Amino acid sequence: METLRWIGDRLEMIDQRVLPEKFEYLSFRTAAETAEGIRSMVVRGAPAIGCAAAYGVALEALLLRDESAVEFTAGMEAAFDVLAKSRPTAVNLFWALKRMRSVWDQGREATVGQIADRLLSEAHTVLGEDIRINRAMGAIGAEMLQDGSRVLTHCNAGALATGGHGTALGVIRSAVEFGKSISVVANETRPFLQGARLTAWEMVQENIPVTLITDNMAGFMMSSGEIDAVIVGTDRVAANGDVANKIGTYTVAVLAKRHNIPFYVACPMSTIDLGIEDGTQIPIEERAEDEVTGFRECQWAARGVSVRNPSFDVTPAELVTGLITEKGVVFEPSEESIGALFKS
Ligand code: MRU
Repeated sequence: METLRWIGDRLEMIDQRVLPEKFEYLSFRTAAETAEGIRSMVVRGAPAIGCAAAYGVALEALLLRDESAVEFTAGMEAAFDVLAKSRPTAVNLFWALKRMRSVWDQGREATVGQIADRLLSEAHTVLGEDIRINRAMGAIGAEMLQDGSRVLTHCNAGALATGGHGTALGVIRSAVEFGKSISVVANETRPFLQGARLTAWEMVQENIPVTLITDNMAGFMMSSGEIDAVIVGTDRVAANGDVANKIGTYTVAVLAKRHNIPFYVACPMSTIDLGIEDGTQIPIEERAEDEVTGFRECQWAARGVSVRNPSFDVTPAELVTGLITEKGVVFEPSEESIGALFKS
């Protein structure tokens, strides 16, 4: 399954809003269309958002390849701008845009056409690297899971949230590939239902045993001794190890601490933001009210009710047993241990 793919002159992405009922690709031909795809969550999950943004930049460059240098520059600045405004929390978006900008900067003497080709090739590299990183992280993280583990996850940090394989679900997939018997407990993940719609679907596709629960059942499952470990993904890790992830993750981490259950965060190095000291500085996206008052065409809440819809929360580093990265596992994440990881 390819979450994103390049076909001829366009980007195609699985429409994650309609899964699992429909499996279909949508086409994207401009940066603005790609930004809208990110905003509306056709594509979602931090690494996949980064890959999409890289392709969004490349798409615009290819469209502008016959323009003058002045027109190219103006068009590209607008492309970077619209993509940067698509979603605020996943740092991979900004990481990918920075990487694409540096390719552009390094090619200032090249022709516009050459720059466009280099940007497309960089987008392919970002996607290919993401899959390799997830596999490396999976192999390292699989060591953290005992044979027979029942693993709770929240949201979707699977192949759909990345270029492929996944971060948290990548660890589970790798453990299964290595012959371990693992079963998954998927929190449904209100309000967008990434757990019920996407994680459950991914696991069912691969015959990895999965049990779906509503988010408010996690404490009961833990207190009944039905969960051995928690693994989640992340949208941004601050320099001190505080972790932003899908709303509800903090609740799961507190519950895991209460029940002495290890709480792991699978996190590519590109998701660690050393420019942010701690979790209080991570921008938290607020999404539309209608995600909370209903789902798709169905509205269940009283009209006129006031609504909050923060899409992410921050889990303090002290609740994190380990950050699983492609360079190794950071136990007891802190500014020192994360700093050492970057130097290793
Ligand atoms: O709002 P979403 O679906 O983009 O949120 C995604 C998550 O919270 C994931 O857990 C996170 O991006 C890690 S994905 C490997």
